[in-house]
Amino acid sequence: MTINDVGGLRTQVDTWRRGGNVAFVPTMGNLHSGHLALVKAARDLADRVVVSIFVNPLQFGAGEDFDNYPRTLERDAGMLEAEGTDLLFAPPVAAMYPKPQDQQTRVEVPGISTLLCGASRPGHFVGVATVVCKLFNMVQPDVAVFGKKDFQQLMVIRRMVEDLAMPVRVVGAETLRESDGLAMSSRNGYLTAEERALAPVLYRVLSGLKKHLVAGSDDFAGLQSKAARELDENGLRTDYVAIRRASDLAEPGPGERELVVLAAAYLGRARLIDNIDFSR
Ligand code: PAF
Repeated sequence: MTINDVGGLRTQVDTWRRGGNVAFVPTMGNLHSGHLALVKAARDLADRVVVSIFVNPLQFGAGEDFDNYPRTLERDAGMLEAEGTDLLFAPPVAAMYPKPQDQQTRVEVPGISTLLCGASRPGHFVGVATVVCKLFNMVQPDVAVFGKKDFQQLMVIRRMVEDLAMPVRVVGAETLRESDGLAMSSRNGYLTAEERALAPVLYRVLSGLKKHLVAGSDDFAGLQSKAARELDENGLRTDYVAIRRASDLAEPGPGERELVVLAAAYLGRARLIDNIDFSR
């Protein structure tokens, strides 16, 4: 079933909450197998699964792809139904943001929101935290599932939930990859055939970084610059390559065991991101 208004959503979810628990997967649609894996994970965690599709204007900067972001609601609804989703919540912008954007209350998770992707996309994580907070209040799920491909986003959401004592368990699901290693993403659809052939270098470079770190290297600065050079030499335009502490994305000290390597790079119209978290 698809519901577009908050009242209808609340009435339905209230009924379910009386007899069981509810899992929630927020998305912006244009679904692929990676999203369906999140829905599968959600199904294993709760009696009922709610998925939202909302292309959130608040998380797009000026000149980004909000207007052109692929909207494929009918196809997505069919995929979700086949995957056993109980409810698709697909609100119009006016239901999510009835007031002008400059009068909308916002949620800011300081520090972590301005690093890495947040440095290149100012305001992006305020937009994400605001819409996810609002969706949580509308759906009131027991558990919510987010992909680890957006590792920084997952950390921002975890921090928001902890800081604001929201009664939601946040679960991170592993990244799904194409057979050549490219992380599945709605934005892969922006790549031409030629660019698509280049794109797997992002995961290859991150895997190489991981290998050096697992072998014991603590030359973080040297490894990061070499990896960025490799991306640029292979046809991408590096935004950042970073080796960070997995728990909070801080710069790691020597011998740090829990790490994440992250990168963002431009390729044609697409801005690709990927990461690998690991212990050493
Ligand atoms: O990851 C996404 O698709 C979006 O950032 C999210 C979490 C649905 C918020 O708009």
